[in-house]
Amino acid sequence: MGCSCEKLKLVYKSGSTKDYAALQSLTEAQVYGIKQTWRAIKDHIANVGVITYVSMFENRPELIEIFANFRGRNVGDLQRSGLIRQHALKVMGTIDKCISRIDEPENLAKLLIETGALHRKYNVTPDVIQIIFPHFLNAIKPHIEDYWTEDIATAWKTLFRIMTHYMEIGMTRDSNDVNTINSHFSVT
Ligand code: HEM
Repeated sequence: MGCSCEKLKLVYKSGSTKDYAALQSLTEAQVYGIKQTWRAIKDHIANVGVITYVSMFENRPELIEIFANFRGRNVGDLQRSGLIRQHALKVMGTIDKCISRIDEPENLAKLLIETGALHRKYNVTPDVIQIIFPHFLNAIKPHIEDYWTEDIATAWKTLFRIMTHYMEIGMTRDSNDVNTINSHFSVT
Protein backbone atom coordinates (compact mmCIF):
# COMPACT_ATOMS: atom_id res chain seq x y z
CA MET A 1 0.00 0.00 0.00
CA GLY A 2 1.39 3.40 -0.96
CA CYS A 3 1.73 6.21 1.54
CA SER A 4 -0.54 9.26 1.46
CA CYS A 5 2.19 11.41 -0.03
CA GLU A 6 2.39 9.14 -3.07
CA LYS A 7 -1.36 8.98 -3.42
CA LEU A 8 -1.67 12.74 -3.47
CA LYS A 9 0.66 13.30 -6.39
CA LEU A 10 -2.29 13.88 -8.65
CA VAL A 11 -1.45 15.29 -12.03
CA TYR A 12 -3.93 17.18 -14.14
CA LYS A 13 -3.16 16.21 -17.72
CA SER A 14 -3.92 19.48 -19.47
CA GLY A 15 -0.34 19.96 -20.61
CA SER A 16 -0.36 23.44 -19.10
CA THR A 17 2.73 24.30 -17.08
CA LYS A 18 0.57 26.57 -14.91
CA ASP A 19 -1.44 23.52 -13.75
CA TYR A 20 1.68 21.58 -12.89
CA ALA A 21 3.20 24.55 -11.07
CA ALA A 22 0.03 25.28 -9.10
CA LEU A 23 -0.40 21.74 -7.89
CA GLN A 24 1.53 20.84 -4.78
CA SER A 25 1.55 17.51 -3.08
CA LEU A 26 0.86 17.01 0.59
CA THR A 27 3.41 14.89 2.41
CA GLU A 28 2.34 12.05 4.68
CA ALA A 29 3.23 14.19 7.73
CA GLN A 30 1.12 17.07 6.42
CA VAL A 31 -1.87 14.79 5.82
CA TYR A 32 -1.50 13.48 9.39
CA GLY A 33 -1.28 17.05 10.74
CA ILE A 34 -4.39 18.16 8.85
CA LYS A 35 -6.43 15.15 10.03
CA GLN A 36 -5.28 15.58 13.63
CA THR A 37 -5.97 19.31 13.79
CA TRP A 38 -9.30 18.97 11.96
CA ARG A 39 -10.54 16.64 14.70
CA ALA A 40 -9.98 19.47 17.22
CA ILE A 41 -11.40 22.14 14.89
CA LYS A 42 -14.57 20.14 14.17
CA ASP A 43 -15.82 20.62 17.75
CA HIS A 44 -16.01 24.35 16.94
CA ILE A 45 -16.95 24.12 13.28
CA ALA A 46 -19.82 26.65 13.30
CA ASN A 47 -17.77 29.15 15.28
CA VAL A 48 -14.76 28.75 12.97
CA GLY A 49 -16.99 29.17 9.90
CA VAL A 50 -18.67 32.30 11.23
CA ILE A 51 -15.36 33.90 12.31
CA THR A 52 -13.86 33.11 8.89
CA TYR A 53 -16.70 34.79 7.01
CA VAL A 54 -17.08 37.76 9.38
CA SER A 55 -13.34 38.44 9.13
CA MET A 56 -13.37 38.10 5.32
CA PHE A 57 -16.37 40.42 4.93
CA GLU A 58 -14.96 42.99 7.40
CA ASN A 59 -11.75 43.01 5.44
CA ARG A 60 -13.39 43.00 1.99
CA PRO A 61 -16.99 44.30 2.38
CA GLU A 62 -17.44 44.39 -1.40
CA LEU A 63 -17.47 40.55 -1.38
CA ILE A 64 -20.88 40.63 0.37
CA GLU A 65 -22.39 41.81 -2.91
CA ILE A 66 -21.39 38.53 -4.63
CA PHE A 67 -23.92 36.68 -2.43
CA ALA A 68 -27.49 37.14 -3.70
CA ASN A 69 -28.96 36.62 -0.19
CA PHE A 70 -26.48 38.96 1.49
CA ARG A 71 -26.60 41.87 -0.94
CA GLY A 72 -27.16 45.31 0.60
CA ARG A 73 -26.71 44.12 4.20
CA ASN A 74 -23.80 44.76 6.56
CA VAL A 75 -21.72 42.14 8.38
CA GLY A 76 -23.35 42.70 11.79
CA ASP A 77 -26.82 42.31 10.33
CA LEU A 78 -25.80 39.16 8.42
CA GLN A 79 -24.29 37.67 11.54
CA ARG A 80 -27.30 38.45 13.75
CA SER A 81 -29.72 37.01 11.19
CA GLY A 82 -27.87 33.68 11.18
CA LEU A 83 -27.29 33.92 7.41
CA ILE A 84 -23.50 33.84 7.76
CA ARG A 85 -23.71 30.80 10.02
CA GLN A 86 -25.99 29.00 7.57
CA HIS A 87 -23.64 29.62 4.65
CA ALA A 88 -20.44 29.04 6.63
CA LEU A 89 -21.68 25.60 7.70
CA LYS A 90 -22.04 24.58 4.03
CA VAL A 91 -18.49 25.66 3.31
CA MET A 92 -17.12 23.94 6.43
CA GLY A 93 -19.03 20.83 5.35
CA THR A 94 -17.12 20.85 2.07
CA ILE A 95 -13.81 21.24 3.89
CA ASP A 96 -14.82 18.26 6.05
CA LYS A 97 -15.59 16.21 2.92
CA CYS A 98 -12.19 17.18 1.46
CA ILE A 99 -10.44 15.89 4.57
CA SER A 100 -12.48 12.66 4.43
CA ARG A 101 -11.25 12.25 0.84
CA ILE A 102 -7.69 13.37 1.44
CA ASP A 103 -6.37 9.86 0.73
CA GLU A 104 -8.55 9.53 -2.39
CA PRO A 105 -7.15 12.12 -4.80
CA GLU A 106 -9.57 11.45 -7.66
CA ASN A 107 -12.62 11.78 -5.40
CA LEU A 108 -11.13 14.88 -3.81
CA ALA A 109 -10.56 16.45 -7.22
CA LYS A 110 -14.08 15.55 -8.42
CA LEU A 111 -15.71 17.06 -5.33
CA LEU A 112 -13.75 20.28 -5.75
CA ILE A 113 -14.34 20.55 -9.47
CA GLU A 114 -18.07 20.11 -8.85
CA THR A 115 -17.95 22.73 -6.07
CA GLY A 116 -16.11 25.06 -8.45
CA ALA A 117 -18.76 24.47 -11.14
CA LEU A 118 -21.47 25.49 -8.62
CA HIS A 119 -19.61 28.74 -8.03
CA ARG A 120 -19.59 29.45 -11.73
CA LYS A 121 -23.37 29.06 -11.63
CA TYR A 122 -23.40 31.68 -8.84
CA ASN A 123 -21.23 34.01 -10.97
CA VAL A 124 -18.26 33.82 -8.59
CA THR A 125 -14.98 34.49 -10.38
CA PRO A 126 -11.94 32.21 -9.81
CA ASP A 127 -9.77 35.04 -8.45
CA VAL A 128 -11.86 35.46 -5.25
CA ILE A 129 -11.73 31.86 -4.00
CA GLN A 130 -8.27 32.05 -2.42
CA ILE A 131 -9.20 35.21 -0.47
CA ILE A 132 -10.84 33.07 2.24
CA PHE A 133 -7.72 31.17 3.33
CA PRO A 134 -5.94 33.66 5.70
CA HIS A 135 -9.27 34.27 7.46
CA PHE A 136 -9.82 30.52 7.88
CA LEU A 137 -6.26 30.08 9.19
CA ASN A 138 -6.74 32.84 11.79
CA ALA A 139 -10.08 31.31 12.80
CA ILE A 140 -8.67 27.80 13.37
CA LYS A 141 -5.50 28.93 15.15
CA PRO A 142 -6.99 29.44 18.67
CA HIS A 143 -8.53 25.95 18.55
CA ILE A 144 -5.29 24.14 17.69
CA GLU A 145 -2.78 26.03 19.80
CA ASP A 146 -1.45 22.76 21.26
CA TYR A 147 -0.55 21.52 17.78
CA TRP A 148 0.33 24.84 16.16
CA THR A 149 3.62 24.94 14.20
CA GLU A 150 4.70 26.58 10.96
CA ASP A 151 4.53 23.09 9.38
CA ILE A 152 0.85 22.80 10.32
CA ALA A 153 0.17 26.24 8.81
CA THR A 154 1.99 25.18 5.64
CA ALA A 155 0.01 21.92 5.48
CA TRP A 156 -3.30 23.81 5.60
CA LYS A 157 -2.01 26.33 3.07
CA THR A 158 -1.08 23.50 0.71
CA LEU A 159 -4.50 21.86 1.11
CA PHE A 160 -6.20 25.17 0.29
CA ARG A 161 -3.95 25.59 -2.77
CA ILE A 162 -5.10 22.17 -3.96
CA MET A 163 -8.74 23.06 -3.19
CA THR A 164 -8.50 26.39 -4.98
CA HIS A 165 -6.75 24.79 -7.92
CA TYR A 166 -9.51 22.25 -8.57
CA MET A 167 -12.32 24.67 -7.80
CA GLU A 168 -10.83 26.99 -10.42
CA ILE A 169 -10.79 24.13 -12.93
CA GLY A 170 -14.51 23.57 -12.20
CA MET A 171 -15.19 27.27 -12.62
CA THR A 172 -13.49 27.55 -15.97
CA ARG A 173 -14.43 24.30 -17.73
CA ASP A 174 -17.79 23.44 -19.20
CA SER A 175 -20.08 21.09 -17.30
CA ASN A 176 -19.65 18.17 -19.76
CA ASP A 177 -15.96 18.03 -18.96
CA VAL A 178 -16.74 17.69 -15.24
CA ASN A 179 -18.58 14.44 -15.97
CA THR A 180 -15.61 12.95 -17.75
CA ILE A 181 -13.05 14.06 -15.23
CA ASN A 182 -11.54 10.59 -14.77
CA SER A 183 -9.95 10.73 -18.18
CA HIS A 184 -8.07 13.89 -17.23
CA PHE A 185 -6.11 12.62 -14.27
CA SER A 186 -3.33 10.23 -13.52
CA VAL A 187 -2.25 9.33 -10.01
CA THR A 188 1.50 8.79 -9.86
C1 HEM B 1 -12.70 27.08 0.51
C2 HEM B 1 -13.36 27.77 -0.36
C3 HEM B 1 -14.84 27.62 -0.60
C4 HEM B 1 -15.64 26.52 -0.49
C5 HEM B 1 -15.23 25.10 -0.10
C6 HEM B 1 -16.98 26.93 -0.83
C7 HEM B 1 -18.09 26.11 -0.79
C8 HEM B 1 -19.36 26.50 -1.09
C9 HEM B 1 -20.54 25.68 -0.95
C10 HEM B 1 -20.55 24.24 -0.45
C11 HEM B 1 -21.60 26.41 -1.37
C12 HEM B 1 -23.06 25.96 -1.41
C13 HEM B 1 -23.36 25.47 -2.80
C14 HEM B 1 -24.81 25.05 -2.96
O1 HEM B 1 -25.37 24.48 -2.02
O2 HEM B 1 -25.37 25.32 -4.03
C15 HEM B 1 -21.10 27.69 -1.78
C16 HEM B 1 -21.89 28.71 -2.29
C17 HEM B 1 -21.40 29.95 -2.62
N1 HEM B 1 -20.12 30.40 -2.49
FE1 HEM B 1 -18.54 29.33 -1.87
N2 HEM B 1 -16.97 28.27 -1.14
C18 HEM B 1 -15.69 28.72 -1.00
C19 HEM B 1 -15.26 30.01 -1.17
C20 HEM B 1 -16.04 31.04 -1.60
C21 HEM B 1 -15.60 32.43 -1.70
C22 HEM B 1 -14.21 32.93 -1.27
C23 HEM B 1 -16.66 33.13 -2.18
C24 HEM B 1 -16.77 34.62 -2.47
C25 HEM B 1 -16.12 35.53 -1.81
C26 HEM B 1 -17.74 32.21 -2.40
C27 HEM B 1 -18.98 32.54 -2.89
C28 HEM B 1 -20.07 31.71 -2.90
C29 HEM B 1 -21.41 32.13 -3.33
C30 HEM B 1 -21.80 33.51 -3.83
C31 HEM B 1 -22.24 31.02 -3.14
C32 HEM B 1 -23.75 30.96 -3.40
C33 HEM B 1 -24.47 31.35 -2.13
C34 HEM B 1 -25.97 31.26 -2.26
O3 HEM B 1 -26.54 32.06 -3.00
O4 HEM B 1 -26.56 30.38 -1.59
N3 HEM B 1 -17.33 30.94 -2.04
N4 HEM B 1 -19.75 27.75 -1.57
